[in-house]
Amino acid sequence: MARLKLAVLISGRGSNLQSLIDACADPEFPAEIVSVISNVPDVQGLERAAMADISAAVIDHRNFDGREAFEATLNAALDDSAADLVCLAGFMRLLTAEFVNRWRDRLINIHPSLLPDYKGLHVHERVIAAGEAFSGCTVHYVRPDMDSGPIIKQAKVPVEPGDTADTLAARVLAQEHIIYPEAVRQIAEA
Ligand code: GRF
Repeated sequence: MARLKLAVLISGRGSNLQSLIDACADPEFPAEIVSVISNVPDVQGLERAAMADISAAVIDHRNFDGREAFEATLNAALDDSAADLVCLAGFMRLLTAEFVNRWRDRLINIHPSLLPDYKGLHVHERVIAAGEAFSGCTVHYVRPDMDSGPIIKQAKVPVEPGDTADTLAARVLAQEHIIYPEAVRQIAEA
């Protein structure tokens, strides 16, 4: 079985990266991580990659003169890695339409809401403020508009009375860690 080659793009903690690392540790899982790229130096996700012996790189967007130059370097690194699928996992840079279209149907993201509701940042605060009974998370193919694109997998969780953004985030995150590997498996086996 040829395993689907994943590149994982991160900016921070990397708990979703960890869920993919853990899934790929099973030789029966139909994917493997060939590269981790962070746009932020010294983040926890890079330590997770190192612990798992996965090749990792920092491409710091602050060292580039504009998005195009940053993305040209990112594209070169992804091409070098021979990744089949690019997984955004807490990657906090907006990507240009050119980049997104170049990777069309080979670029996925995880977002901590039931898309198309609550795109963007500070999702959990907004969900609680709106008095929603449910929230959740979504893995989707990336299209040029932020947090849009065909949905691959979703999980729903209740919003409990007394929830804070932190308690709701933790409940949603536990589901993120389940559905991201499931979505990758679904793509690999399609
Ligand atoms: C997750 O909630 C993810 O849905 C969002 O950013 C957060 C990243 O967390 N896009 P981590 O870095 O994977 O721990």
